[in-house]
Amino acid sequence: MAIPKPKYEIATIEGDGIGPEVCQSAVTVLTHACPPGLLAFAHVPGGAGHYVRTGQVLPDETYDACRRADAILHGAAGMPGVTYPDGTEVGNDLHLRLRFRLDLFANVRPIYLYQGDFSPLKSREAGSIDYVIVRENTEGLYASRGGGVVLRGEVATDTLVVTRHGTERVARFAFDLARKRHGAPLDGQRRVTVCDKANILRTYAFFRSVCDDVHRDYPDVAIDYAYVDAITVHMVKRPDFYDVIVAENMFGDIISDLGAATVGGLGIAPSAEVGDEFGLFQGAHGSAPDIAGMNVASPLATILSGAFMLRWIGERHEDPRLLEAAARIERAVQTTLAQRRYIPRDLGGMASCTEVTQAVCDNLN
Ligand code: IPM
Ligand code: MN
Repeated sequence: MAIPKPKYEIATIEGDGIGPEVCQSAVTVLTHACPPGLLAFAHVPGGAGHYVRTGQVLPDETYDACRRADAILHGAAGMPGVTYPDGTEVGNDLHLRLRFRLDLFANVRPIYLYQGDFSPLKSREAGSIDYVIVRENTEGLYASRGGGVVLRGEVATDTLVVTRHGTERVARFAFDLARKRHGAPLDGQRRVTVCDKANILRTYAFFRSVCDDVHRDYPDVAIDYAYVDAITVHMVKRPDFYDVIVAENMFGDIISDLGAATVGGLGIAPSAEVGDEFGLFQGAHGSAPDIAGMNVASPLATILSGAFMLRWIGERHEDPRLLEAAARIERAVQTTLAQRRYIPRDLGGMASCTEVTQAVCDNLN
């Protein structure tokens, strides 16, 4: 375990669309929350806009900066119509290259309801939806990206890849996380729900069996299973049952958007993509080009991802300054939302990106 450092370098990739706005908001809040000079933000280019200008979605200087830094903070990437000849989006490639090359095997997506009326589900109270989706982030159906078959314009295939190593490490991450949490809102039970389609596909039956093997080391944590179709019903009908959900890459991608929708949308959904050595933090939303530059995007997902980043670095370096700053940011967001004065538009308010950012900064003190 590393010891506290005099300062921490954050490779900062603002990206496309609303990425620059929400990333700058997070940098403002992080700077306010930490002791002066503790964080050094190294702004580096990347994304679809950079590709259009230079032909590179992830330049070497950016990749090297990400490897050198203590963590990576990302706004968002992607521009409509900027695609590769095979039809896949360039902007997403920035993200996927970092995921696979830095081996960010756990995509951690907290789903938390800050205010009852932010949820489209009726009679939900603050805190009654409080779980974390742990999405395997380096294999599954995404392992085939760029490697699938497209034949004569008649047939296309992608292969679902599930490995024992990949499943063991993401399952262990999920069980360790459940141990650190306080259990599901419904019953306080520390629980990991394995989301799969084991009844139909052997790949998912294998995924489940490896999670069962890992569970043997966690007798204090309950294990639970849900087929991916069924879990979409449970996430709507009984979300308070869930504590931690572990899923293969593609399933995790899909259910994490549903989870975010149940607590107000992707504008309030942070994410951490972490491996043994590196961590990338960004809101779970996209680049929202339709509202880019209008100062109307919610910065909360990226601000909360920034707090997540401080917590992750703080735990790795046993640095109380970062842990304390992370907690202050999380409390400031909670207070801002409870005050009901500066609510972003995606949560039913009228506040601008800069107004929400300032309100969070004011509530830091
Ligand atoms: C996500 C996004 C990404 C994914 C894209 C941007 C590559 O949808 O992080 O959920 O498909 O995983
Ligand atoms: Mn997604």
